[in-house]
Amino acid sequence: MNKSLSMAMDSLSSAKNLDDLYPLIDQQFFTAGWHKKRASLWPSPRTEFRPMHWSYELGKLALDQAGQWMDTELAERRNLLLFNPVGDNDYDTVRTLVAAFQMIKPGEYAKPHKHTPNALRFVLEAQPGAFSVVDGVLLPMRAGDILLTPGGSMHSHYNESESCAYWIDILDVPLVHLLEPMFFEPSHEAIQAVESTPSEHPYWFKVEELSKAWPMAGEAAQEVPIDTQILDSQSHILTQCLSYHHMNKMQSWDIAKSTVSRLFCIAEGSGSAQLGGVQVEWKFGDVLALPSWHAAQFKAHQNSRIFEVNDFPVLDKLGLYRQAL
Ligand SMILES: [Fe+2]
Repeated sequence: MNKSLSMAMDSLSSAKNLDDLYPLIDQQFFTAGWHKKRASLWPSPRTEFRPMHWSYELGKLALDQAGQWMDTELAERRNLLLFNPVGDNDYDTVRTLVAAFQMIKPGEYAKPHKHTPNALRFVLEAQPGAFSVVDGVLLPMRAGDILLTPGGSMHSHYNESESCAYWIDILDVPLVHLLEPMFFEPSHEAIQAVESTPSEHPYWFKVEELSKAWPMAGEAAQEVPIDTQILDSQSHILTQCLSYHHMNKMQSWDIAKSTVSRLFCIAEGSGSAQLGGVQVEWKFGDVLALPSWHAAQFKAHQNSRIFEVNDFPVLDKLGLYRQAL
């Protein structure tokens, strides 16, 4: 028997009662399961994450202010992370997802890189000349478009227009942090080569395809469920479900409490929402966060469209999806 094991055995053997034993077993990195400091099981889901609302108007002003003093070299990081104020968190928006407002000024570009987290952009404001390059494919970034940059794809962003371009980034980085398979690699090239400029691509959801007509109008709209379109993205990004909700003026949308964490981006219109116990007013460009096990109700004050990203596929694949009755 080696010396340290022998000393530990002697030490444990010297205990005269449980109070003597606890510090000795702690020294050996054992926790007494009957005497642990924190519960490890509880009857229903708990989250520290809070329902939240971020104003695009405020975010845009903060980005414009920062743009006065940040040069092109830092442009790829000119984003505002929408962090949930829990503990010392300054990154995660909900448990599995992070959202950010990003701005690139005319003539700037965000250098190419790739990483394991999946990313997507929802473009808020952009003029012709703003685009992303994903694995050599040039994808225009037009206001209202959604672009995917699946994990492992080399990607970069360019603004060759005369105006600043603004968008919302959504990534599953917090999920990758939890599970730990992070890989990141910058490109050796400053400018990513363009190999094709297709008019259609599975990573590009065009605003024209997302902005279909609202099905009802006026009083009649209140009687029908809201119209939801699931985007065909799950074969490219396995961890997220992307959907687009079309709400008529005065229509309500109830979301049941479930184990899914959700982010909502306001694509068009305005309204209010009850997120758990939090009442908010929303309009174009705003981002709302609904952590797991919180119910919500949206009410549209105008004809509105809401882009949702959630982690349903992760919960579902792992057998962890539940919805409250
Ligand atoms: Fe990236």
